Amino acid sequence: MGTFSKLFRATSHARRIGIWPAATVVGERLWSRKLFLGLRCDLAALPPLRPAQIPVSMNSEASASFDGFALALETARGRDVLEILHRMDICSAGWQTLYVTRSPDGLPAFVQWLIRAADQDGVHESAPGLFRSLAPGESLLEGAYTFTPLRRLGLMTHGVREVLRIAHDEGATTAFTYIAVDNVPSLRACAAAGFKLDSVRTIEWRLGRRRADVASLDDAATHTVRLSRRVQGCPVVRVRPRARVKSTYGAGVPGEASGSPNSTT
Ligand SMILES: CC(C)(COP(=O)(O)OP(=O)(O)OC[C@H]1O[C@@H](n2cnc3c(N)ncnc32)[C@H](O)[C@@H]1OP(=O)(O)O)[C@@H](O)C(=O)NCCC(=O)NCCS
Repeated sequence: MGTFSKLFRATSHARRIGIWPAATVVGERLWSRKLFLGLRCDLAALPPLRPAQIPVSMNSEASASFDGFALALETARGRDVLEILHRMDICSAGWQTLYVTRSPDGLPAFVQWLIRAADQDGVHESAPGLFRSLAPGESLLEGAYTFTPLRRLGLMTHGVREVLRIAHDEGATTAFTYIAVDNVPSLRACAAAGFKLDSVRTIEWRLGRRRADVASLDDAATHTVRLSRRVQGCPVVRVRPRARVKSTYGAGVPGEASGSPNSTT
């Protein structure tokens, strides 16, 4: 489904999304830049499990017949409507494999896709350029979602760790995932489940067209340093003028002596 068809579909849910979140999303698709952290997990060194407050058992289910999102959509509000629609799209695109844990009353509690290298083609076709190409033994985790009544019970922390164990037991060595830099709950859950920072992905939207760039940490750091030098050099926004303080390292220019606490680079 194209960007504008998705926006059109979202307008049919506009009342439940709310005017401000809907306008924000339209604005984001027209002109925005968002940062995602690429995380990597060494499956041979998983940390101890942190159990959720309800039992968790991640089982694979056919995404084509999974009706949890359609049910959740009936009562969803705000940006959550968009989160659900996005996952319904993933189901329609046939991404493999959806893992689900259910609450004691049988309702879906937390879901997560585990994509193996052998199943990645459909993912790259429906989301070109967004994800790294997986080598044999590598997996991708995507689409984590905790159904709203069960949030903050540790389900994502436990569920992601379970899916990583499943991947490890099958012989995979490494897992990757991408998380928006402002998605604190996901970042916390993934860190607790064993993920570490690996790369930085930028997604730019320009008049409905998406462009994704992935940079290694070294490249991203170099870019940030260059950017900060440019900002420091700009007379209008000069961040910290060089202070002239008395040097304890002889009569040289303060702040330039090697080892001085005031030295700037
Ligand atoms: C992100 C999401 C899956 C988290 O699910 P969850 O089951 O509530 O997460 P957990 O209970 O395991 O919480 C993980 C951590 O985040 C914290 N947290 C959870 N919700 C939070 C919130 N709204 N604000 C701040 N911290 C929050 C928890 O306290 C926990 O921190 P801890 O490690 O210090 O204990 C859920 O909020 C969700 O479905 N959001 C919409 C979809 C989404 O963003 N998916 C992720 C895409 S990568």
